[in-house]
Amino acid sequence: MTRVFSGIQPSGVPTLGNYLGAIRNWVPLQDQAEAIYCVVDLHAITVWQDPAELTRQTREMAAALIACGLDPQRCILFVQSHVRAHAELAWIFNCVARLGWLNRMTQFKDKAGKNQEASSAGLYVYPNLMAADILTYHATKVPVGDDQKQHLELANDIAQKFNHDYGVEFFPTIEPLIQGVAARVMSLRDGTKKMSKSDPSDQSRINLTDDADTIAMKIRRAKTDPEPLPDHMAGLENRPEARNLVGILAAITNTLPENVLREHGGQGFGAFKSTLADALVAHLQPIAGEMKRLLDDPGALDSALHVGAERARAIAEPIAARAREIVGF
Ligand code: ADP
Ligand code: NA
Repeated sequence: MTRVFSGIQPSGVPTLGNYLGAIRNWVPLQDQAEAIYCVVDLHAITVWQDPAELTRQTREMAAALIACGLDPQRCILFVQSHVRAHAELAWIFNCVARLGWLNRMTQFKDKAGKNQEASSAGLYVYPNLMAADILTYHATKVPVGDDQKQHLELANDIAQKFNHDYGVEFFPTIEPLIQGVAARVMSLRDGTKKMSKSDPSDQSRINLTDDADTIAMKIRRAKTDPEPLPDHMAGLENRPEARNLVGILAAITNTLPENVLREHGGQGFGAFKSTLADALVAHLQPIAGEMKRLLDDPGALDSALHVGAERARAIAEPIAARAREIVGF
């Protein structure tokens, strides 16, 4: 059976971007593959996280994943730091990956900003840890948003170099699964930047925990241009904010942007935004409610995550042990 792996950082409240670009696509894979999903706290500390907040956000992220439809009975759901094999294999990969490869990673440049010298070494080698996450399960399919494509190419380079240098056929080739019209949801304040839970401005994103009024307010204030909506796709060219809002409505109502334009073309943003806000509220409110219910019983959540970690270790440990042997440890 195909083995699928994906992860999400507990570095803030999950956003609409995380939901449409990643989490929502993880749900059906539970029944089509052996699905392994992970709250990647080791990745989160590549930038500063307050310890108590990290603990809280890790639980909150797990609750969000379950509320969005991940079922700990039908997938393996766990916290990255609970399975030591990730960090161990990541160290081996630090010694396989080349600096030149890491220098090409655009996410590091985006996240480190102008002050690269002051960013953590962990942020720089983040893609090596991501390669370890996937390869310590010999997973071959990775459902991610469009922003992670470059990291998956690097993971394949690492796997190939490891196999080549040690003369083994050990690590498989990984394929990204990038799905749907919302593979890249953009910021509500700047149509050229992706929506991110770690963006300093809360107005730039819809959080899965936002209440109905907050969602409506954020959509109302979302940046747009003065033109009405076009009735065909070509009319969205050079209008990143309009394209983004149309893409979001299409994704949330399970249709194509073309169909959204056929229905709403000619409309001003006032009317369109109110339709969009209503659709978002209808879709996201049940998720927020379920998250709240799950977070009321942290003991049950923690024990589900511990069972998940045990199941994950049962797959990861033998693969890590074999990697150790291959290296000569
Ligand atoms: P973030 O950048 O919000 O902190 P993560 O790095 O934790 O998100 O990524 C978790 C998953 O969510 C990844 O698969 C990533 O590709 C996806 N993702 C993150 N932001 C977006 C977005 N704006 N649009 C679509 N997918 C996204
Ligand atoms: Na990301």
